[in-house]
Formats: sequence, structure tokens, C-alpha cells
Amino acid sequence: MTSGYLWLKAAHIVFVAAWFAGLFYLPRIYVNLALVPAASHAERERLLLMARRLYRFASLLMVLAIALGLGLWLGYGVGRGQGWMHAKLALVVATIGYHDLCRRLLHTFEQGGNRRSDRWYRVFNEVSVLLFAATVVLVVVKPF
Ligand code: HEM
Repeated sequence: MTSGYLWLKAAHIVFVAAWFAGLFYLPRIYVNLALVPAASHAERERLLLMARRLYRFASLLMVLAIALGLGLWLGYGVGRGQGWMHAKLALVVATIGYHDLCRRLLHTFEQGGNRRSDRWYRVFNEVSVLLFAATVVLVVVKPF
């Protein structure tokens, strides 16, 4: 493989890791928001500001991670027509859906309409870990 390909793949992995750092931490903020007493306006506003900034930053990282991945796939033809790549793309679509659900949950918090428990957000938080692990196994092991 050319060094250009390897540099592209290295950049892809860096932005994938950064994107997922956002997807691991955002639900953690939601756990804390679900636990904030109704009277603690300052703490609620502080957590909402953190979540808004992190969501915006994670969205930029998502675009870069996916653009670099598309460069590897379409630019160098790696994985074309292979089962592991199709399964990986399905998980990527699921991860984009998870990212968008984080946006909608943030909006619910901003509207003061959250009815879900901190326990629900703790379980929700584990979904991003499972998506990450499954995608890495698919692309590194290439089981099919
Ligand atoms: C549309 C989105 C994506 C596309 C088209 C894509 C495509 C690719 C391609 C073609 C490779 C090179 C595979 C190889 O050299 O064997 C790659 C590597 C990699 N991708 Fe993605 N990817 C995408 C999103 C993601 C996501 C969301 C993750 C999250 C875990 C991820 C994790 C990785 C890893 C860890 C590697 C390095 C694999 C290795 O070195 O063997 N990718 N990606």
C-alpha cells in the first residue's frame, strides 16, 4: 500500500477515535443532567452548555472521520464488494443514527422535557461502546 493510503488511514483512525470520544462522553453528561435537581438552574445551564459544545465538536469530527473513510473505500477501493465492509457500513449508519439521537435528546433537555432516568442514559451510554467495538473488529479482523 502507498504511503498516501497509510497516511489517510492513520488520519481516519485519529478522527474516528475523536468522534467516539464525543459519543462516549455526551451520554455521560445526559446522566448528570437527568440527576440535576429542578432548582439547580446554574448547574443545569453549565451542563447544557458543555453538551451543546461537545455535540457541535463531535459533529465536525464525524464528518472528517467519514470523509476519510470514504476516501479509503472509494479512493483506493479497499473493501469494495466485501462482506466486512458492507457490515461495517451498516454499523456506521447505526452510529450516525446514534449521533443524531444524541442531538434529539439534547433538544429534549433544553426544552425541559426529559422524562428518562439516569439509569436509562447509563444503558444508552453503553451502546456507543458496543458500536465502536463491533466496527473495529469488523475492519481489523475482516471475519467475512
Ligand atoms: C462511511 C464510513 C467509513 C468508511 C467508508 C470506512 C472505510 C474504511 C476503510 C476502507 C479502511 C481501510 C481498511 C484496511 O486498510 O484494511 C478503514 C480502516 C479503519 N476504519 Fe473505517 N470507515 C468508516 C467509518 C469508520 C468508523 C465509524 C469506525 C469506527 C470504529 C472505523 C474504524 C476503522 C479502523 C479502526 C480502521 C483501521 C483498520 C486497520 O488498520 O486494519 N471506520 N475504514
